[in-house]
Amino acid sequence: MQNRVTSSSSAISLEDQYGAHNYHPLPVVLTRGEGVMVWDVEGKQYYDFLSAYSALNQGHCHPRIIGALIEQVQTLHPTSRAFHNDWLGEYERFMCTLFGYDKLLPMNSGAEAVETAIKLCRKWAYEKKGIPADAAQIIVCENNFHGRTISIVSMSTDPDSNTNFGPFTPGFIKIPYNDIEALTNALQNKNVAGFLVEPIQGEAGVQIPDDGYLKAAYDACKKANVLFLGDEIQTGIARTGKMLACDHENVHPDILILGKALSGGVLPVSAVLANDEVMLCIKPGQHGSTYGGNPLACRVAMAALSVVQDENLADNAAHLGHILKHELQQLQTETKLIGAVRGRGLFCAIDIVPNDKVNAWEVCMKLKENGLLAKPTHDHIIRFAPPLVITEEQIYDCISIIRKTILSFES
Ligand SMILES: Cc1ncc(COP(=O)(O)O)c(C=O)c1O
Repeated sequence: MQNRVTSSSSAISLEDQYGAHNYHPLPVVLTRGEGVMVWDVEGKQYYDFLSAYSALNQGHCHPRIIGALIEQVQTLHPTSRAFHNDWLGEYERFMCTLFGYDKLLPMNSGAEAVETAIKLCRKWAYEKKGIPADAAQIIVCENNFHGRTISIVSMSTDPDSNTNFGPFTPGFIKIPYNDIEALTNALQNKNVAGFLVEPIQGEAGVQIPDDGYLKAAYDACKKANVLFLGDEIQTGIARTGKMLACDHENVHPDILILGKALSGGVLPVSAVLANDEVMLCIKPGQHGSTYGGNPLACRVAMAALSVVQDENLADNAAHLGHILKHELQQLQTETKLIGAVRGRGLFCAIDIVPNDKVNAWEVCMKLKENGLLAKPTHDHIIRFAPPLVITEEQIYDCISIIRKTILSFES
């Protein structure tokens, strides 16, 4: 089939004419990726500093992941869960051993995994905790981002996510993030079944809670017989310098939600992990997905996680993340354009203080011109989250691009 796209501008106008306008991408049209690099249709090379919102922790086109994909797609791809396949059990054992749970429930997108976790939590609430029918509540945090389905946007406090999408799903209590007192108060309600939280709020702009928050939240949940649901879809799989962001505080969520980099960005693969007491509340026919647990997804996810382990990507993220944060903090002292720097591992962000000449979008446009792709979140924040396979030499190269770009607005 012939690719009709001959230039970035023709690709962008095709999308504009025939695609829904539900995204506002940077005007760059990518055609190839390898490791931390991507190329546009005109052949210009860029560092990828978004990693598909942390789906590509293992980098673009990792040969081991692509090798597993090709081998499996030529053998057996989705069969549905009407039959068993010869990789699902193997994959489930691999995952349960790696993350320390009894069982796994496979899904595809992150939002589906979050929905699964909510359903699981509610089932447990009625069948184990004894909450009266239809009364279960789940505590969520303000400024969360857990996806885009109706129930998930019902938990959102972001007007872009929920305006004119009602009526909303009931059963959620919203409290401020990083506020133990608010959580403790909300836990007084006997109908609370779970607390759903991102260990670092990614879409909100890499908002890192105070040290000890996650542990205190987990302990408060235990005391109230409430499940702690950790959404590690963006923070998990080595991004923050440990396999899970919850590992920084030795917190083991009752329900762990994974997605994105679980497949190295190759396929939509997500998963929910829990122990038997929770997971076995769901019986045959009560939940599922045609594609969830297909052999292709299983093979790809196992390869993607093996890459993370064998290439020590968590350590690399911790080491290079430290350098990146330190250099960004140094840059902050030299410019009024950076209001704040946050980061854990290779999950970093800067707040841009806009002036009449420049805002975060323009900074990203200039970064693009200088060979680095990043995207603003919430108008004034720029997230820096390169693939974790980046080298020290490359991170310094990227730091000099960021430095040059930011300081160019000073003159
Ligand atoms: C923390 C978190 N949860 C859930 C999601 C939704 O994942 P998906 O876009 O695969 O549905 C995202 C996506 O950015 C996320 O960051």
